[in-house]
Amino acid sequence: MSLSTNNKRRDLLLGRSLDSIAIVLTMRCNLHCKMCSFWKSQKKDPSYENIKSILDNAYELGARRFDPWGTELFMRDDTPDILAYAEQIGFREIYVVSNGLLLNRSSLLDRLSKLKSLVMIISIDGPEAIHDELRGNGVYNRAVSSLREVIRRGIKTSIASIIMRPTLNHLDKIVDLAAELNIPVISMQPYNRDLAGPDCDHLMFEFRIDEKKMLANKINNLLKYARQKNVLIYTENMLKHVTSYLAEGVNPFPPQGCHVPSRMLVVDIDGNVLPCFEIKKTIGNINEVSLSSIWHSDIHKEFITSALEKKCPGCLRACSDVEGYNNEINNIFRQTLNHTARRFVHYIKKFSNP
Ligand SMILES: C[S@@+](CC[C@H](N)C(=O)[O-])C[C@H]1O[C@@H](n2cnc3c(N)ncnc32)[C@H](O)[C@@H]1O
Ligand code: SF4
Ligand code: SF4
Repeated sequence: MSLSTNNKRRDLLLGRSLDSIAIVLTMRCNLHCKMCSFWKSQKKDPSYENIKSILDNAYELGARRFDPWGTELFMRDDTPDILAYAEQIGFREIYVVSNGLLLNRSSLLDRLSKLKSLVMIISIDGPEAIHDELRGNGVYNRAVSSLREVIRRGIKTSIASIIMRPTLNHLDKIVDLAAELNIPVISMQPYNRDLAGPDCDHLMFEFRIDEKKMLANKINNLLKYARQKNVLIYTENMLKHVTSYLAEGVNPFPPQGCHVPSRMLVVDIDGNVLPCFEIKKTIGNINEVSLSSIWHSDIHKEFITSALEKKCPGCLRACSDVEGYNNEINNIFRQTLNHTARRFVHYIKKFSNP
């Protein structure tokens, strides 16, 4: 891409309005999963009023997507009120990730089923023995029973799974489960060190360099299997990078740089605003300055630019720039089309002017 096209693209992205806001609602959790450290945090939940005010400000800046974030969101009794508030003020997409354990309450499901913008994503990492080994006895059956109930209530539903050593050989069972329950789209993201925390033994979850080929084969087979079963893995285009990510620690970037900081903000449990889930540098705190001034600040612009220029740390999370990875495919597709079109024109010319 030429320098001027790059500059135009950067200027366009710097002037964009906010698309989505992620707010950490709680760091309390009812599970102590082996691959996650979030439950160790002792931080207090932000108040309902505080969250409403962030949602109001984000909406004014243009956000229409809300990602409540943190640990198990239904540890908060007012989570349904927060989701309902977001929808009432105009948010059109709300993605809730849950371990499913607290969802088997009729009154809660009644409320959730009234939310048109809600997508409930239940985390399931493998068949019963694998899931329970990672998350605790009986968790699989309770999660799947919630999943069935959520579907029965007509709530849009998906499954999220982690690609890691304990799950790699069993992820086809997740595809089977999705096919059986008519769930059209699921998400698979690689094990992430940051979520696992510094005390975790990463070797239990990652791979060795000499396992790269095996890992690549398994992922390819998984993708083929999902296609056969008509289940879309929405992170599909990122998965080819998983091999070097999990076996060599290579943090990739979407081919044209990452768009995430130009369209979303993350508000952590202390009110710190971050440019994406992966970068832990705060660009302001909503208890001290308005969300609007943080969004328009120079420091935020610097993060947008460095992500576009691939100078950020890079990452491979389901919430990173999935669209950017999809563009890669679109671009390759477009180039192939152009190539085919050129050959077609050449062919026509040759035969019309022998
Ligand atoms: C932090 S959890 C919070 C939501 C909820 N407690 C749950 O387990 O679904 C959000 C997502 O991160 C995933 N996760 C947890 N630890 C991870 C890790 N080390 N690497 C990648 N994903 C992880 C969970 O499986 C879940 O899908
Ligand atoms: S993965 Fe989810 S359920 Fe498990 S400890 Fe982390 S936040 Fe809690
Ligand atoms: S760290 Fe990841 S999500 Fe954040 S800007 Fe870089 S590539 Fe994007």
